[in-house]
Amino acid sequence: MNRITRTTIMGFMLLILKLALVPVPLSWAKDFIPPPMIVRSVFGKLKPVMAPADNPMTTAKVALGERLFKDPRLSGDGTMSCETCHRENNAFTVAAPLSPAFTSQVERRNAPSLINVGYVELLLWDGRVEALDEQPVGSLSNVLHLNSHPDLAVEQIKADSDYVAAFAAAFGDDAITPIRLGQAIGAFERTLIYRDSPFDRYMAGNTDALTDFERRGLGIFMRDGRCIACHNGPHISDGQFHKIGVPDGHITGDPRVMEVIRFDAKRRNYEGWADLTENPGRALVTHDPDAIGRFRTQDLHNIPDTAPYMHNGVFATLEEVVAHYNKGGGDHPNQSGLIN
Ligand code: HEC
Ligand code: HEC
Repeated sequence: MNRITRTTIMGFMLLILKLALVPVPLSWAKDFIPPPMIVRSVFGKLKPVMAPADNPMTTAKVALGERLFKDPRLSGDGTMSCETCHRENNAFTVAAPLSPAFTSQVERRNAPSLINVGYVELLLWDGRVEALDEQPVGSLSNVLHLNSHPDLAVEQIKADSDYVAAFAAAFGDDAITPIRLGQAIGAFERTLIYRDSPFDRYMAGNTDALTDFERRGLGIFMRDGRCIACHNGPHISDGQFHKIGVPDGHITGDPRVMEVIRFDAKRRNYEGWADLTENPGRALVTHDPDAIGRFRTQDLHNIPDTAPYMHNGVFATLEEVVAHYNKGGGDHPNQSGLIN
């Protein structure tokens, strides 16, 4: 079940191709072509997603999870579902800089793609949630997202005899609880896997999976471009939080978005929430000034399908992303020393 690939994503290699197009200093050796064996030893193959011991995957549970994921009865006013912001035909994201939000609210961040989310250890852009099976109840209660209450959602589901039967098929008895609701959606999300990009095929030894041009882009990614300092491992992400100084004028210049950032910080008991002038990112979780402006390194497997990019969706294209790195990032005091 956990090997299902649901999308027809084009692959990480488009990014690599864009990299090869970027003008780089003459001193950069452009002809470094890493052989598949080296690439495999550096990144490693993405393994099947592991389900937690208390939530084994079954076909019935995944089907139930998918149905819940798409059911607007989970929202406070019956108008939205998880799918509103994580659209199946859009690599489970939305093609807009900032995510949609619950009726009359605004969001302050980009909706992440849920492809390969089963591999993520610390969820959300700031890593505030650890368990994929617990996250759905968070979305359900979040006033910016589904703005409902777990007990209300459970009551609505219980009133539908089809659901009662589906819970029994998935869990062995017909108890319907917020925990099970999260487990079913989590099981569904673990099937959203993409690990057969041209990059993966190249790594597996099929040198024709990449053109010569793309192989040179991969060489830049791995050596002179130093992308690999943070985008490493089988998930093409170190799972860590870095400040890469992306522009945020569209956030800081919008009083409604700043209001939501301060509201969110207040909910996190963040000191100085009332005077915030930027999104504190990881510092919302760690309350450490050094973490201000840090966000999680993203997986790049399905990158061509998830524009716009970054936690605030500021870059519309991969060319813009690469240009940002190529000029040494932004000018934030916390910017990572790995970018210059
Ligand atoms: C109104 C829009 C909206 C709705 C509805 C919504 N989400 Fe999200 N989702 C987001 C945004 C925005 C983020 C990033 C939030 C952040 O970092 O603070 C996110 C993040 C996530 C993440 C973390 C992904 C990662 O890579 O860390 C998961 C998992 C997720 N949502 C699943 C769900 C599920 C399941 C539902 C339904 C129960 C749901 N979402 C409903 C907008 C939405
Ligand atoms: C210092 C660590 C670091 C380095 C080095 C780095 N990245 Fe990133 N990358 C990140 C982080 C962190 C994010 C998310 C930042 C944010 O949203 O504010 C990110 C985001 C991205 C995104 C957008 C992902 C998305 O889904 O929105 C792309 C594309 C990307 N990086 C490509 C590259 C390339 C290409 C290079 C090399 C030229 C590179 N990165 C070097 C840490 C790094």
